[in-house]
Amino acid sequence: MYKAAVLTVSDRSARGERPDAAGPLVASMLEAAGYAVAEQAVVPDEQEEIQSALRRMADQQGIALVITTGGTGFSPRDVTPEATLAVCQRMTPGIAEAMRAASLAITPRAMLSRAVSGIRGGTLIVNLPGSPKAARENLEAVLPALEHGLKMLLEGQADCAALDRK
Ligand code: MTE
Repeated sequence: MYKAAVLTVSDRSARGERPDAAGPLVASMLEAAGYAVAEQAVVPDEQEEIQSALRRMADQQGIALVITTGGTGFSPRDVTPEATLAVCQRMTPGIAEAMRAASLAITPRAMLSRAVSGIRGGTLIVNLPGSPKAARENLEAVLPALEHGLKMLLEGQADCAALDRK
């Protein structure tokens, strides 16, 4: 069972002005998919605070999968992708491509998500949009494939041909 963490990025939720709806939803989806959710945290849309939360989760807590929600749009304070890029050593663009491809079938506004995904050490970080509906739709599109990637990342190998034989 892989350890996961959820990071909600929202000025209003961090100030206590709006309950965090997307974070608990993402956590319950991860638990249903078999992950052990070790932490749920909320930070404001401040690049340094996002980066330090991501570094802490990856480097000190040994989290295999960090899912962020919020801060991926066009508002001047939306900096979650920049914070993610800054802490990752290798990017995994296919994950964000898959989320946008699936989401474009639902709404043309899916193209407005600037979400990215990448690897820091033994941790995969995936950005989701902030609304509960958008977070769910995006995570549903990629969640079934993530475990295979984590297996490659953390166990050094995975049988990529196994699906072909089924
Ligand atoms: N993706 C899906 N599947 N469903 C949605 O409703 N909303 C979009 C987009 N992706 C949406 C979506 C909108 S309106 C925006 S602005 C961006 O995600 C970024 O959202 P964020 O600023 O909350 O991170």
